[in-house]
Amino acid sequence: MEKFVLASHNKNKLREMSAILSQLGVEVVSPDSLGIDVDVEETGTTFEENSLLKARAIMELSGMPAIADDSGLCVDALNGAPGVYSARYGGGDLDDMGRTRLLLENMRGQSPRTCRFVSVITCCFPDGTVLSARGECEGTVAFAPMGEGGFGYDPVFFVPELKKTFAQLTAEEKNARSHRGRALTLFRTKLEDYLKTKA
Ligand code: IMP
Repeated sequence: MEKFVLASHNKNKLREMSAILSQLGVEVVSPDSLGIDVDVEETGTTFEENSLLKARAIMELSGMPAIADDSGLCVDALNGAPGVYSARYGGGDLDDMGRTRLLLENMRGQSPRTCRFVSVITCCFPDGTVLSARGECEGTVAFAPMGEGGFGYDPVFFVPELKKTFAQLTAEEKNARSHRGRALTLFRTKLEDYLKTKA
């Protein structure tokens, strides 16, 4: 079984990535389980740049294939904010609920409420190979948080076709349509091709 290190301490990302990549015979382990305790500075201005920065740094530290997800919520009426700054929206002191409340405040009176989640998955291998895939998922910013599942902005990410927020979906339902699920599906095809060339 291939073993990849996740370039993140986010347990929710680890759970979502493991669920999808285990189908490919890939085990995803946390950096903490290898005694790696660094926070890679996200100095890039695009999801692609930050995803690569994280994957490369953890690959170099671990000597193992490292996989990173850089993701965020882009809201049209806020010119794409919070975007790459989704995890730090409102400064470093807010928690998920605080950031969600701030977003709802900033959306008061705004239209349209259209938005998208974006995820860029990058995997860096010790042989220098870099595989990358982007996934997006369209929705609208709900008027109030709904649901208990998921994490981050899930309670206010409303999917019009389902009339539910991401936080009201099961993990399987979310993975089937989410930005991360889509990026991982594309990544999976690229990974299969790469593993074939190695075999
Ligand atoms: P990153 O760790 O810099 O990629 O930060 C991503 C941030 O975007 C997270 O902390 C969340 O706030 C938000 N985010 C990314 N993916 C999701 C998701 O699937 N649901 C809810 N929020 C998400």
